[in-house]
Amino acid sequence: MNMNEFIAAMPKAELHIHIEGTVSAKKVLELAERNGVDIPYASEAEIVAAQDYSFPALENFLDYHYMCSSVLRDGRDVYEITRDFLEKCRFENIRHVEMFFDPQQHIERGVSFDDLMEAMMTACQASEVSTGLIMCMNRERSLESAMEMLDLADKHREDIIGVGLDSYEEGNPPIKFQEFYDRAREDGYRLTAHCDCDQKDAVKHAHQCAHDLNVDRIDHGLHVLDDPELVEVVRKREITLTMCPTWRPSDPEPRRLKALREMLDLGLPVCLNTDDPEEFASRYLTHMMQSVQQKGNFSAEEMTQFMRNAFRGSWIGQEQRAIHLTELEAHLEAYLKQN
Ligand code: HPA
Ligand code: ZN
Repeated sequence: MNMNEFIAAMPKAELHIHIEGTVSAKKVLELAERNGVDIPYASEAEIVAAQDYSFPALENFLDYHYMCSSVLRDGRDVYEITRDFLEKCRFENIRHVEMFFDPQQHIERGVSFDDLMEAMMTACQASEVSTGLIMCMNRERSLESAMEMLDLADKHREDIIGVGLDSYEEGNPPIKFQEFYDRAREDGYRLTAHCDCDQKDAVKHAHQCAHDLNVDRIDHGLHVLDDPELVEVVRKREITLTMCPTWRPSDPEPRRLKALREMLDLGLPVCLNTDDPEEFASRYLTHMMQSVQQKGNFSAEEMTQFMRNAFRGSWIGQEQRAIHLTELEAHLEAYLKQN
């Protein structure tokens, strides 16, 4: 087994992936046609060509991302994309995946919270892959809107594992959602929040996540490295950093590769994720991990460490976690014996 085969066959977990970012260019066109939605792209090639998120990166990416997800108009659409993504996961040897969904967006387009949950859960229950759903709040929206989502989620409590925070970060600090996070914790949800790369006040936002919101994970979290106190807190409290090393036009980005190496060396619980696999050149987890391994020159042991961190940071039961970790160690051992 060579390194690429080792990575392909590795038992995997993924903790940072937005279900709305798994819609292929082909599917975007199909759904636009089926639902009569006007989009500014006439072909798959045009959709893919639009995936060049130059300055100011996050905003450009999000504008594109929301344009593509605007074709999702009913439960059937959501069911189909969830089913198709979970089928991909099986092919990637992903044993467990925790998926973000943006309820506010779907509701605005006419899919009720209940229909949305039914669509995703039908696909999840039919899949061999173990799944967790994380309800993400769009941070440019109001606190009141987020609190309403918690009300709507009440009757689906058993099917939603945690809450998160995504979308346009500038001017929308984590602290804006303090009340939301306090109630979510009381309601028994696990907590995470995006701290995207190169955002204004990035370090301050990471501080708020760790100290005020008291999150279990930080999504991305590259700028934790900019502050030794934060590094210490993340290490001590084992706050998993769900890094996504790929970006356009450089894929994977050299600076993010350097950060991954630094995080491993500091003993931080960092793992590898695709974020929005159909919207970045690196696509799905196996291919992304292979390019990270090659471009960052990571060893088999180091690639396994990323995955240990993913299973450890996941929100599954202890027993299930132990089974996956045992399988992962056996996989590494088999590779090391041969090489
Ligand atoms: N950051 C913020 N919002 C998002 C992202 C992201 O990486 N992906 C989808 N929505
Ligand atoms: Zn994300």
